[in-house]
Amino acid sequence: MPFTYADTWLRDGIVHFATEVAGPDRLARIAEEARNCRQDAFDRINDSSEIVGRRNGSIFSPQRCRAHRGGPELKGLVFDPEFIALLCDITGNQTLLPARYGLKFYSRGDYMAVHRDDPKCSVTVSFALTNDMDPMGSLPHMRNLSNDEVLELILDQGFFPSGGRDVELKPGTLVAFDGYNVPHWRPPHCADEGAILGTMCYFSI
Ligand SMILES: [Fe+2]
Repeated sequence: MPFTYADTWLRDGIVHFATEVAGPDRLARIAEEARNCRQDAFDRINDSSEIVGRRNGSIFSPQRCRAHRGGPELKGLVFDPEFIALLCDITGNQTLLPARYGLKFYSRGDYMAVHRDDPKCSVTVSFALTNDMDPMGSLPHMRNLSNDEVLELILDQGFFPSGGRDVELKPGTLVAFDGYNVPHWRPPHCADEGAILGTMCYFSI
């Protein structure tokens, strides 16, 4: 029997997928919309040096980038019933509700230190809207550890722990991942050209 997206989700909590409902034309429209949003983006900066485990199970950490809520093209994909049904199939959830979505703009040096997403993110979806997006770092083998256990293992390693797995972010392919449980980060953006990331979070009820 072929290995399926759902098998990969169970094993790793990270699934790369492509789908007609988020095909090249739609992603191109979202990318154009995103480029037009850049001028209205706002700073998303936490200059603290602390990585903090929170009572809600998330891990909150420093970051630097710009962000925007996105426009109707992005919202259309986030709320598309066919897209949500696919995410349910991949992740074994019966009902997923869009919880939040937006765009992240990374200039040279922008980053997001190792963290766990907030509890609304039963499924986090990220996708590159530019060609020059560096891979995301991840620690899927720590998916089932408590915050205390994760912090014990990573706190002496700074913002970007070693021993992780790179998660490629290439235009045309989306990544669904267990962002509440799998610690992950964005390394400092290397290219002179800025990068744009689409993100969406779904809550399982
Ligand atoms: Fe995240």
